[in-house]
Amino acid sequence: MTEFQFPSGFLWGSATSAHQVEGNNSNNDWWAWEQAGRVKEPSGRACEQYQRFEGDFDLAKELHHNAHRFSIEWSRIEPRFGERDEAAIAHYRQLVAALRARGLEPIVTLHHFTNPQWLLAKGGWASPKVVDLFARYTRWMVEALGEVRYWLTINEPLVYANMHYLDGTGPPGARNVGQGFLVIEHLARAHAAAYRVIHDHARASGREVMVSFAHHTQPFLPCKPWWIGDRLIAEETQRVYNHRMLETLTDGSLRLPGRPIARIQEAANTLDFLGFNYYGRIFLHLGFSGFSQWLGARCSTRHHREVIERNALDWDVYPPGIYDVLHWAKPYRRPVLITENGICTHDDTQRERFITRHVQWVARAVQEGLHVIGYLYWSLLDNFEWAEGYGPRFGLIEMDYKTQQRTIRPSARRFAEICRINRVPLAE
Ligand code: GAL
Repeated sequence: MTEFQFPSGFLWGSATSAHQVEGNNSNNDWWAWEQAGRVKEPSGRACEQYQRFEGDFDLAKELHHNAHRFSIEWSRIEPRFGERDEAAIAHYRQLVAALRARGLEPIVTLHHFTNPQWLLAKGGWASPKVVDLFARYTRWMVEALGEVRYWLTINEPLVYANMHYLDGTGPPGARNVGQGFLVIEHLARAHAAAYRVIHDHARASGREVMVSFAHHTQPFLPCKPWWIGDRLIAEETQRVYNHRMLETLTDGSLRLPGRPIARIQEAANTLDFLGFNYYGRIFLHLGFSGFSQWLGARCSTRHHREVIERNALDWDVYPPGIYDVLHWAKPYRRPVLITENGICTHDDTQRERFITRHVQWVARAVQEGLHVIGYLYWSLLDNFEWAEGYGPRFGLIEMDYKTQQRTIRPSARRFAEICRINRVPLAE
């Protein structure tokens, strides 16, 4: 069987986010939301990674990863407005040092869905104040972790805006299209402000940095391809969801449905690479259910004839999609890092297949000349899946939440082998 050799220095690893693994993030808005009973179960101790990170990074190293993506919890750094917690800052410094000591390239996310509770009291992401506040927090972190090369400002801005301000499934639970669009604009401005802060600091200290955000890429297809209504909504959503934010951060234009084009000049040219998260496709029909109606309504993957495989949450599993989204990156002329790709399943052989097939499609894209710099699996270990609680199992490492016992899954060993040899058999 022909094998594909990835370029040397290709980044292999996994991703996590603070609130999903650290435990006891009691100063953030998700915690308050959980305590108010708005989710299946509260995050509680999670994976206690705030204390156990050394052991977890030992496991990542044992699995031949050479990179690791994690996020900083803003509410730990600034538990009260304007107050820096030096111990928390020192913690993340130790975390970066622990990664480096194990030969793992740190990839740092500054915002992954959670906010300090005080920010919400100030209007959250719907208030323009958030831009400067985020820039200040970014400056603190860049000063503390100046030697980090890869920075992701914001995880999935459109998912964040949708989940927290349009669908209302996360705090503050808003269902308001006007506010949702304002939040999208502020996310773009905050990204741009953080980009400048990170680059100014790097320039002053003579270091090279690579800054991006983690973009949720998702092919949208019509539920009924023979019906024009479904085709139109799928095409429009495809453009808005997958391309608008990339356009904003490359040419400074923000085009949202039914709105005049906004110019956000400071956002132009604020991507050094593209961070892409990819999970699967969504099938849409023209319908008016819920507040995401500007995105059309989803049809179930259960009965769609194109869906041949699903994960434990019934999401579509479609490995060629990762190749498609890599192709979308071409006009933006920047290298791509797969910042998340993963599956929740109770069948670890399905995970093993999932990883191999997706990596094979990435290999094909690289073979065709696309500039891909790495692949990070979501997630290193099972963790708190937001509104879904602890049911979904995405981890390379299985968690026993009662005992905090970690067990490496066979799929993790298979992935480890790919990481070690930097090669994958090409699909037939
Ligand atoms: C991503 C998100 C992660 C994780 C993952 C699996 O969209 O960034 O936090 O939850 O999905 O659902």
